[in-house]
This record gives sequence, C-alpha cells and structure tokens, in this order.
Amino acid sequence: MKIGIFVHSQSGNTARLALAVTHALREKGHEVDVELLRPVGKVNPGMRHVELKNVPELEGYDLVMFAGPVWAWNASPVIISLLHQVTGLKGKKAMFFLTSGFPQLISGWSRAHKKVRALLEDSDATVIEGESLFWGIWCSKKRLDAAVDRICKKVLG
Ligand SMILES: Cc1cc2nc3c(=O)[nH]c(=O)nc-3n(C[C@H](O)[C@H](O)[C@H](O)COP(=O)(O)O)c2cc1C
Repeated sequence: MKIGIFVHSQSGNTARLALAVTHALREKGHEVDVELLRPVGKVNPGMRHVELKNVPELEGYDLVMFAGPVWAWNASPVIISLLHQVTGLKGKKAMFFLTSGFPQLISGWSRAHKKVRALLEDSDATVIEGESLFWGIWCSKKRLDAAVDRICKKVLG
C-alpha cells in the first residue's frame, strides 16, 4: 500500500510515534511518506483556524493517517484545521492517532477521537478507528512499540 502520514507535533512526541509507525510499515513492505504539518505562527488550544504552510496532497495514497497531540481535551487545532482544509478524502481509507500527557480517563482522548472521527466521516473517508498513546513525561520503548503494533494491526487488519 502507499501510505501518507501527516503529523502535528510541537514537542516531538507524536513525531517520534509517527516515525516508529513509518519504520514498522516500511519493514512490512509498504511505501510510506511522512510529513510534518507546519503551522504559520504560534498555535494555541481552541484556535478555530490554523493556517498551514503545507496542506498535503492526498491523491495517490491508498491510506492516509493523521497524527497529533491532545490539547485542551480535544485534538490539536492543527489537526482539526487540516481536516477542514484538506481535500481528496472521499472514499479513502483514513486513520488517526494521538498522544497525550495524561492517562486515558483524564486526557480528553474520547472527545478528541469523536471530533477527528466526525471530521473524517464528514469528508466521506472510510474511517479506521483511531489509537492513542499516553506519553506522559516519558514513554518507554516497550509502550511505544506496543502502540506501533496496535496502530499497524488496525490499519493492516
Ligand atoms: C497547549 C497544550 C495543551 C495540552 N492539553 C492536554 C490535554 O488536554 N490532555 C492531555 O492528556 N495532554 C495534554 N497536553 C499534553 C500533550 O498532549 C502531550 O504532551 C503530547 O504527547 C504532546 O505531543 P507533541 O510532543 O507531539 O507535541 C497538552 C499540551 C499542550 C502543549
């Protein structure tokens, strides 16, 4: 499969997870592009619109993945804004994964998942259920690898 992974990461956690997913999928023989989203200026939680220097072109991908942090009990405004701006999701397989600073119950995962899923569905994507990783202040290799496995299983079946 040709796979595109589009990532918002301010402090590097989600980028590390996205790179680990990229390597794992490449090892399984898939062609994977990974791209960091580059917002214009400073981004704050709750921003309604974030201008991006790069809005990815989705044509040619069999599967696209969107990744970012949980911010203020929601998906990051960069991911939300991107999903309002990007085109070409109709009929495309799409998945998302998030990292958080707090454990699941208090992190806001469920609201963030609901939001991203709804935006993907509004664009008529074929949505694969998202994944989250509680990063905290430090994430062990074991937990990172387990998250990579969960993500790969979800997208590859
Ligand atoms: C502005 C801001 C808001 C955040 N809000 C939450 C939150 O509501 N829930 C949570 O679990 N973590 C929250 N975090 C922590 C991040 O989700 C976590 O550190 C994440 O792994 C950061 O990803 P990144 O390094 O890719 O930017 C917040 C971090 C920032 C900077």
